[in-house]
Amino acid sequence: MSALLGKKILLGISGGIAAYKCAELTRRLKDQGADVRVVMTNSAKEFITPLTMQAVSGHAVADSLLDPRAEAGMGHIELAKWADLILLAPATANLIARLRAGFADELLTTLCVAAPAPIAVSPAMNMEMYLAPATQENINVLAQRGLHIWGPGKGPQACGDIGPGRMLEPDDLVTRAIDFFNPEKPILAGVNISITAGPTQEALDPVRYISNHSSGKMGFSLAEAAQQMGANVTLISGPVHLATPAGVNRIDVLSAVDMHQASLQGLNDCDIFIACAAVADYRPEQVADQKMKKQQGVDDLTIKLVKNPDIIADVASANDNTFCVGFAAETQDVERYALDKLKRKKLKLIAANDVAKSGQGFNSEKNALTVFSETERFAITLADKKIVAQQLLAIIAQQYFAG
Ligand code: C5P
Repeated sequence: MSALLGKKILLGISGGIAAYKCAELTRRLKDQGADVRVVMTNSAKEFITPLTMQAVSGHAVADSLLDPRAEAGMGHIELAKWADLILLAPATANLIARLRAGFADELLTTLCVAAPAPIAVSPAMNMEMYLAPATQENINVLAQRGLHIWGPGKGPQACGDIGPGRMLEPDDLVTRAIDFFNPEKPILAGVNISITAGPTQEALDPVRYISNHSSGKMGFSLAEAAQQMGANVTLISGPVHLATPAGVNRIDVLSAVDMHQASLQGLNDCDIFIACAAVADYRPEQVADQKMKKQQGVDDLTIKLVKNPDIIADVASANDNTFCVGFAAETQDVERYALDKLKRKKLKLIAANDVAKSGQGFNSEKNALTVFSETERFAITLADKKIVAQQLLAIIAQQYFAG
């Protein structure tokens, strides 16, 4: 699992020819699970377009201190606080000089002055400019202030010179970022997590039941990823055809009532409860002891259903200390319904998927989620459920430890 998973990286691009590599750099950082937001100086836009960077990062590019619309979204101080790391790549001689002097003359320099986050500088310029005493002195001052200087590399330059001044390649910068964040211990080490997964079966008689199409893949992917992140995982699973992930303690159940009971047992030790199961809302009131017979001449059959317990709502109200995360599969008005569930069931987070979209969610290999807390929202773009599980757990871990 990558140390960049869930890390918020603010990529600051200034105006050097190496800016064209920033699309690739963003892709590589995102491949590792990082969330990347891009800030560009005006001259950077001469080398790569904000539209390209928006497309690869998945977020609008920020470039102005004085744009009221951008400020109404994620304002510059919020953006400064958001970052876990500011990566300035390419950092031109001009940007480095302005950083040294403490300028706040455009958005990127202002963020560098305002941000509490560590800053990594990846110099990129012509070798003469790099070796100039002013640049060398500026870089030394930044290093003394605790900024991280990544590069430059040596080699052929755009101007034809050969020497130091090339921006490190995207892969090298990703490696530097991974080394920078590399955690001493897995992020969920020692945390007890219970996860419900799969469908439930609500018996009508000994051979028939009411159920749904849930495959259990999302819940099992979460169990596997949580175990790999160091958690002690209990997987409470409805009937599915999936192998138990290594190191996970699995409890098999059939009905919602069984899942409810298994979930409430051992709740005192449960730090995080994730309800991924597609629980039947209702069950037949009567379960026939014998197989129900077709009756001659009777064309209608009415089965009375009664409501099942709401497992996650009961877990959340039974133990205030358990951090509860629910799922919301919606076909319309996803945000409104998800936020309503978050409040009603007293959850800390809810992961909403739009099951009306084809190729994601129920019984699919892929999923895309929007995760809501009371005050924040996080987007996880369409990917294999294993990747989505890692990203969701990174968000859960961050929120769990923050609060
Ligand atoms: O109310 P709804 O079924 O849409 O809520 C979905 C969330 O609540 C999921 O996290 C699901 O696992 C959980 N749930 C539950 N017990 C139920 C119904 C839903 O834990 N009886």
